[in-house]
Amino acid sequence: MRLSRFFLSTQRQTPKDAETVSHRLCIKSGLLNALSAGIFSYLPLGLMALRKIENIIREYMNMYDGQEVLLPALQPLEIWQKTGRDKVLEEIMFTFKDRRGRDICLGPTHEEVITDLAKKFISSYKQMPVILYQIQTKFRDEIRPKAGLVRSCEFIMKDAYSFDRDQEGLNLSYSKMKEAYQNIFRECGLPAIILGADTGAMGGSESEEFLVKGESGEDKVFFCPNCGRYFKQRGSCPVCAAQLEEINALEIGHIFKLGTKYSQALGAYFLDADGRRKEIIMGCYGIGVSRLIPAVIENNYDQEGIIWPKKIAPFDVEILVLGQAEDLVSYSRELYGKISSLNYDVLLDDRNESVGVKFNDAYLLGMPYLFVLGKGSFSQGKVEIVFRKNKQKILVNKESVLDWARDYLRK
Ligand SMILES: Nc1ncnc2c1ncn2[C@@H]1O[C@H](COP(=O)(O)OP(=O)(O)O)[C@@H](O)[C@H]1O
Ligand SMILES: [Mg+2]
Ligand SMILES: [Zn+2]
Repeated sequence: MRLSRFFLSTQRQTPKDAETVSHRLCIKSGLLNALSAGIFSYLPLGLMALRKIENIIREYMNMYDGQEVLLPALQPLEIWQKTGRDKVLEEIMFTFKDRRGRDICLGPTHEEVITDLAKKFISSYKQMPVILYQIQTKFRDEIRPKAGLVRSCEFIMKDAYSFDRDQEGLNLSYSKMKEAYQNIFRECGLPAIILGADTGAMGGSESEEFLVKGESGEDKVFFCPNCGRYFKQRGSCPVCAAQLEEINALEIGHIFKLGTKYSQALGAYFLDADGRRKEIIMGCYGIGVSRLIPAVIENNYDQEGIIWPKKIAPFDVEILVLGQAEDLVSYSRELYGKISSLNYDVLLDDRNESVGVKFNDAYLLGMPYLFVLGKGSFSQGKVEIVFRKNKQKILVNKESVLDWARDYLRK
């Protein structure tokens, strides 16, 4: 993508109503635009990061036996009345009547819908285990939308549901999902903390949360500087008695052993090997996909802007052309074409802007590598490569730039 043609508008001013660093950087770097409180448009740059995150999630969900589906966002309230969650989640549900007079909600989550599906399709123990997942927009009428994508009223979640014949099966499905989550968060550059959690409105017997440190965090975790471990409770360390430090954390994922709560309420049964009719045993597993963007930023930034982890950077590399000299410009286009043809996403800053503006924007946008074409180094046959993370610079011969790209980009 040529920056001169890209639908992007970076802001020099710090946005006034942005509460936290990730919110400020999302707006400043042109990832998002606020339509109204808690409601956002993804601009091309933000959507590119989101898609990369989604693809990492897909890769690991599929690897751990998940099968992708897409469930409706429009849900008849009737199905919620069967589990009683129309009352439990009443406050955060968007509801209305359609022209047929049906009570409808915009799905805040999908346990009811997926259990209805399981009821229709699973009749025998031979059809399990099965894990279904989707990446979809959820709607929640949040009391306090917060910090951009951290808590919004329309957001993207990956939700997965497992169906098993017995507890042993559930334990296995649960541990697969847990492992998938650990891989996903690592690939996204997020050091996730896993802690036991309340089952809350979801119900079930056991649940764990995945959290990361971050200024926008609405949860607290407590860290023991001695043991290097995190706890849910404040006070002193249960292991070594040292005073625990309080840290803000964002919940990025949540996994549950649901058991039979939903299958019982909605009548999802199967015939077991012994010929007996039993309730399907379920688990559910959520990742706040859109919330991962602020979570990643809060764990990867500096004074100048975002520092995207390689695997989810919207572009793998940005080429900066400093000046309008003909040989520079034609080489920049050639390099752009060649790196793109290696299947990397390349941003070419071909604007007629000053060196200062180009560097400021490049550091703000935060692609992991900057290939800088400047008069001085170019006349000596070299390209300067800047590592966004630590701003370290190296000079690489023009002839070796492609090899360098092959070796280092997105690895
Ligand atoms: N309003 C929201 N905006 C953005 N992400 C959200 C929102 N609510 C929940 N999430 C994300 O979706 C994941 C799964 O949702 P869930 O556990 O049902 O949320 P909660 O714990 O807030 O009720 C959460 O771990 C969180 O990352
Ligand atoms: Mg939760
Ligand atoms: Zn300790």
